[in-house]
Amino acid sequence: MITSALPYANGPLHIGHLAGAYIPADVYVRYLRLQGRDVLWVCGSDEHGAAITIRAMKDGLTPREIIDKYDAQFRATFEGMGIAFDIFHRTSSPLHFETAQDFFRTLHKNGAFEVVENEQYFDEEKQMFLADRYIIGICPVCGNPDAYGDQCERCGSALSPNDLLPPIRSTLSGSVPIKKTTKHWFLKLNEYEAWLNKWINEGIADDVTLHNPDDWKPHVLGQCKSWLDGGLQPRAMTRDLDWGIPVPPEIDASGQKKLYVWLDAPIGYISATKQWAIDKHTPDAWKKYWQNEDTALIHFIGKDNIVFHCLIFPALLKAHGDFILPVNVPANQFMNLEGRKMSTSKNWAVWVHEYLEEFPNGQDELRYNLIKNMPELQDSEFTWKRFQETTNNELVGNLANFINRVFVLTHKYFDGKVPVAVVSSQWSVISNNYEPESELLNLVKEINKAIEKFDFRTALQGVMDISTLGNKILQDNEPWKKFKTDPEITASVLNLSLQIVSILSVVTQPFLPFLSTRLRKLLNAPKLENGDWAKMLELLKNKQPLINTGQTIGDPVHLFTRISDETIEKQMNKLSENENEKTMLPEIIPAEETPISAENPVIMPATQHAPVKESISFDEFIKPDIRTATIIAAERIPKADKLLKLTVDVGFEVRTICSGIAEHFTPEEITGKQVIIVANLAPRKMRGIESNGMILMAEDAEGKLAFVTPPVGFMNGAVVK
Ligand code: 2FM
Ligand code: ZN
Repeated sequence: MITSALPYANGPLHIGHLAGAYIPADVYVRYLRLQGRDVLWVCGSDEHGAAITIRAMKDGLTPREIIDKYDAQFRATFEGMGIAFDIFHRTSSPLHFETAQDFFRTLHKNGAFEVVENEQYFDEEKQMFLADRYIIGICPVCGNPDAYGDQCERCGSALSPNDLLPPIRSTLSGSVPIKKTTKHWFLKLNEYEAWLNKWINEGIADDVTLHNPDDWKPHVLGQCKSWLDGGLQPRAMTRDLDWGIPVPPEIDASGQKKLYVWLDAPIGYISATKQWAIDKHTPDAWKKYWQNEDTALIHFIGKDNIVFHCLIFPALLKAHGDFILPVNVPANQFMNLEGRKMSTSKNWAVWVHEYLEEFPNGQDELRYNLIKNMPELQDSEFTWKRFQETTNNELVGNLANFINRVFVLTHKYFDGKVPVAVVSSQWSVISNNYEPESELLNLVKEINKAIEKFDFRTALQGVMDISTLGNKILQDNEPWKKFKTDPEITASVLNLSLQIVSILSVVTQPFLPFLSTRLRKLLNAPKLENGDWAKMLELLKNKQPLINTGQTIGDPVHLFTRISDETIEKQMNKLSENENEKTMLPEIIPAEETPISAENPVIMPATQHAPVKESISFDEFIKPDIRTATIIAAERIPKADKLLKLTVDVGFEVRTICSGIAEHFTPEEITGKQVIIVANLAPRKMRGIESNGMILMAEDAEGKLAFVTPPVGFMNGAVVK
């Protein structure tokens, strides 16, 4: 039973979403199917929560209009990318309402909740209770005037709204919120702490679903452990909202209380499975996926969803009692874009629906690049330059090149028919001691192993290694030279090459499904079916051919196209233009409901300006030597809270600059950033480190800093004048 995080239906999908939770699941599911395993994969639109209502408010539309728009867009985008769920459902559907309310009823009956009445901030202008993230005030720890009700972004302290010092403001209207009494249903998460500790660390607790902690990714376990070490508190599972699933009326008659979106959304996996079963006319079929201990439940998500899928949802499932628990949650980290965090509100993203329009038939190129750079264990980065290099060198230069040569040569020498291999097995054809079949078999087995460990990068490399081997066999044997003198060798080499193309038509399917389909057609091979990878492996083990002698193959075709410098330039320009426009999506998204690539909400606009300094002469103006540069490394300086030691590439040299920005930025988020520096500032020693220059920053009235950045991809060392 495979799930992918339900995306919030409040904005388009970007490549970070794809790399986080959809492409990895797609690869995994396609692979399992080719192994002949019984697998079901569900997803759907997450259509409740503040992410939706805020977007609606900003666009002057109703929440219903927003979710309908993005739900339709998601379906088209996923289909366009070849991401084929068994069902893509919606949390606004009546079946989901019923499933979620029933779930709540059972939790209530099982005593999982305590009802707590307390005072919460209320925005009178918007007539809304405020989620913690919508409240700002002064941080009691560091004095930051714009700390959020859940966390201070400057000093990192975890806060609750009551910790904030006045003036307190609502980020929705800017007004001062009042306190109002309200009651909510809290999951007694504290009572599940010991059980969760055991389940996470040992894989089994109270005989409930076994998993092997060694199979979990270290960063997933690490995040769970750090939450558990901090101690778990009861957590409200209801909200005061207009938009959402009402608490069942027999439990709360007011109709005002709605289920917390993070209770509602994961139940969406179950209701999606129920809908799938109904659509198949086997309404009970969902049960074997959710209620059978032999089923392995696996959630594909981004790292900002870990706590919900590894602690809260398992506690809910356990409290409910009728469902299995996940055996693994192979969450991915984030994919950055051109050295910066992908951001919806800053429009710093590659939107998938736009990519599909601008690169028609370019799905596999994007899939390849995203898998090659998948943030499986740590954050990764997408750059257009690398997209170009990878496509041109690896897809065009290696894979397409090999396949094309095999087709061209087969047509040239053998009339487009698979030639006869001279030796008994078509595999052992070439030189005396060399046995390509065992090498190929090992490569395929390595791909199997890597996929089963959720190591899709390594698996993809394995696929390319098969193509590299094919190219090498052609190169070493030069059939185009030997045809006249030794036609038998030529025939054997091409037979082997066609066997390799056949292997590629199978092993590329999880990664590059469009290519795989084309290859199957070109080989006149049947469409792939469940179990075909396993069958291929058997044939390989038994040294049987995958494509038979005498079979006619199609004409050589163009499989991948080189990406030009202009195409890349266009994308880079678009990125910087988009960013300048900042036309896009809601700036404020609550931390707990942030999309897969989370971003920082925008703070209230600055209203005051620093006074203009006294005038200077032109000669004075030209004294500073100001240059473009890139921060290539950054680290904290022990015992210096404010300073970061930066390694900066100034084009003509690499130098060290100490910068007093440690309270504003982490080393990770600024590495790779392009900046503007003063290059001729006299060297200064700071904490024993010689600093050679200064980074230019803009500072707003609230003391918030921003880098001054040249357009993306601008050369380092350029003079700013
Ligand atoms: O982070 C998000 O985009 C959430 N909408 C993910 C929900 S996953 C699940 F619980 F449905
Ligand atoms: Zn603070």
